[in-house]
Amino acid sequence: MDEAKQVGRTSESKARAEEKWITFRIWRQEEADKPGGFEDFKIAYRKGANVISCLMEIQRNPVNAAGQTTTPVTWDAACLEEVCGSCAMNINGRVRMACSALVDKLEWPITLEPMRKFPMVRDLAVDRSRMFESLKQVKAWIELDGTHNLGPGPRQSQSEQAQRYVLSTCITCGSCLEACPQVTQDNDFMGAAPISQARLFNLHPTGAMHADDRLRGLMGPGGIQDCGKAQNCVQVCPKEIPLTTSIAAMNRDVTKLVVKDLFFKDTESEAAAGGPA
Ligand code: SF4
Ligand code: FES
Repeated sequence: MDEAKQVGRTSESKARAEEKWITFRIWRQEEADKPGGFEDFKIAYRKGANVISCLMEIQRNPVNAAGQTTTPVTWDAACLEEVCGSCAMNINGRVRMACSALVDKLEWPITLEPMRKFPMVRDLAVDRSRMFESLKQVKAWIELDGTHNLGPGPRQSQSEQAQRYVLSTCITCGSCLEACPQVTQDNDFMGAAPISQARLFNLHPTGAMHADDRLRGLMGPGGIQDCGKAQNCVQVCPKEIPLTTSIAAMNRDVTKLVVKDLFFKDTESEAAAGGPA
């Protein structure tokens, strides 16, 4: 074998041998008020592995790249199929779902950091309560009296169903809040997900009965008025929900409600009280 071919083969097998290990740079932090930093781990490469399966590997054998035994990494995950929304984290600097992030499609070394717009719990786990509180603020549900049979629900056209279906796929992962420059840990801007959920329930024929309540929730503290229209939310949503369309639609409806409140409130209350309409 000529020398050039041999050198070629040697560097090829060297490259393959090196590829057998993936380095993960993982943010470690015991608590929110303790200092944090990166710790490196080397994981044996497996074709088709995703970030969560690599984290599980580290959990089984918590030894860092320097060969020291360390504490297992903490992260959140449940469904492992991009449905529960709990595994959102920053992977190579971009927020995404760890369970659907395949190592073959990521640049190595792979850097994992927690979302920064939510309070830290530990390592990669954060507290996403602010998003769930905002969903309560906008009443992101449909009021139902479950004490008696209500019969079949109102009929909806296929196009309305299609419009609502995509909005209903939100998995409350929080990626849209993480990517939004208007959301910080020091303010209470609700971000795109609760705004889009208000739209989802306002589009429902039964939910529409409480549409104004949801719009008033959107007008409350940290509401839609704080949106800076950066449009980062729509870029990172794993479900490709048309968030900017939802924000525009809710902005329009909130403005209509403000005008209605301004000019027609007294007339309405007089009519309700039996006075001149
Ligand atoms: S709107 Fe998209 S990015 Fe935001 S919480 Fe829902 S699924 Fe996640
Ligand atoms: S584990 Fe449920 S979305 Fe990733």
